[in-house]
Amino acid sequence: MFVSRLIEHLFWRQIGRQSGKLAPRLLFQITNVLVYFAMGLCMAALLFKVPLTGAIATSSVIGLVIGFAVKSLIPDTFSGIALNLDQGFSISDFIQVINRPGTIRISGRVTNINWRSTYLETPEGSVMVIPNTVVSESIVLNLSKPDTSGEFEQIVTLDFQIPTDRALRVLGAAVAAAARETDAIWDTKARISEIGTLGVVYKIKYMLDPARMGPGKAKHLILGHVARQLELTGITPASSTLVSTDIWDCNHELGNAAHALRLLKHVSLFAKLPEHYLALLAQRIPTRELRTGDPLITAGDPGESMFVLGEGLVAVRIDTPNGELDVATLTPGNFFGEMSLLTGEPRSASVVALADALAFEIDKSAILPLLEGNPQAAELMSSAAAARRLASDAASKAKRPDELEEAHKSMSAKILGAMSNFFGKSKYAEPKGPRAVNKVVNG
Ligand code: CMP
Repeated sequence: MFVSRLIEHLFWRQIGRQSGKLAPRLLFQITNVLVYFAMGLCMAALLFKVPLTGAIATSSVIGLVIGFAVKSLIPDTFSGIALNLDQGFSISDFIQVINRPGTIRISGRVTNINWRSTYLETPEGSVMVIPNTVVSESIVLNLSKPDTSGEFEQIVTLDFQIPTDRALRVLGAAVAAAARETDAIWDTKARISEIGTLGVVYKIKYMLDPARMGPGKAKHLILGHVARQLELTGITPASSTLVSTDIWDCNHELGNAAHALRLLKHVSLFAKLPEHYLALLAQRIPTRELRTGDPLITAGDPGESMFVLGEGLVAVRIDTPNGELDVATLTPGNFFGEMSLLTGEPRSASVVALADALAFEIDKSAILPLLEGNPQAAELMSSAAAARRLASDAASKAKRPDELEEAHKSMSAKILGAMSNFFGKSKYAEPKGPRAVNKVVNG
């Protein structure tokens, strides 16, 4: 024990100190086994007078038998030593083991490397035990080096007939929307990767910190946004069976009444209204195209129209004593600008494009017939506006849930009252009786 401690402190720890890293535990263990074995031989020779040459010869035979019995463990052990010495990855690094390139990829955080296996904690939260020989024969991608984050990408193939500008806008906004939901994803972009046989291959790229979100979870989040945006825009991924007229329709209708109608049906505010009202509205709403960073609404300006986001991503930004604050991120199918339209008050917040965007503009004369014919839509709208105003207020000062509900009711009634003045219609006067609190809030 003394000798093995001596070797540990004078040799391994010394090497560790010089290289600035702790020597792998596996090496201590192997030295210990060798030292104990040598001491065993010495004791046998000195105490029991066993001839050393005979003992070594016998132990070689025993070693041979044991070696034969555990022959599959030997390469694992040596691979374990090599992996430990190699320092290509170490405990708590996030790695991807690519066995037979392109076919099997195993990702996870390294939790242990012992004499037989490497233990990975997978993004799904289970433990994967990989024999060291498999790891040392594979390509290992260490996502934690040189720094802890890595660039990831996701491929999406869309038909040739989808204009590339439009595809990039939709995909770029989808990945940007995912990045707004977590700090683990940043620096997002969408690019054309190649022209495939089925269509144009797009690459969604993003930086990810796997320590904060596993690559599988990030992919799930991003593809969820992509699927939602594709559904709303009517774009379908390229497929050999896709009928080309579908694509033609979806491109041809970009920004026109059919496009607007499809979108309006997805807007929570309008979803329950009879289709003929929506079809009428859809014919009267022009589009506004925005580049990343463009403001669509500026706080304090007068406003006579509201918007429905068709493609892209926008942020609702307010001024607080501590500077600007994004109170909401709105994705396609969300509406905004309704407060000024309804009440005639100046814009309560700024709305800025976070990615290239396309919005439909609904002015007072277009929405009026719809609200006149559907008082419940007016109520829904005032309730949503009230909820948003309170959410913005709450962003600066917190309130209890019961206070919030009370404040929501009175704010909703106030907005409805303001609407009656603005539209000059008595039917928007304060509602009678209890009303369900609407849950239509920001994106
Ligand atoms: P308006 O005041 O006309 O212009 C700014 C718009 O931002 C506002 O209408 C709302 O549609 C929207 N808005 C303001 N606050 C919020 C919020 N907290 N959540 C979502 N949207 C908001």
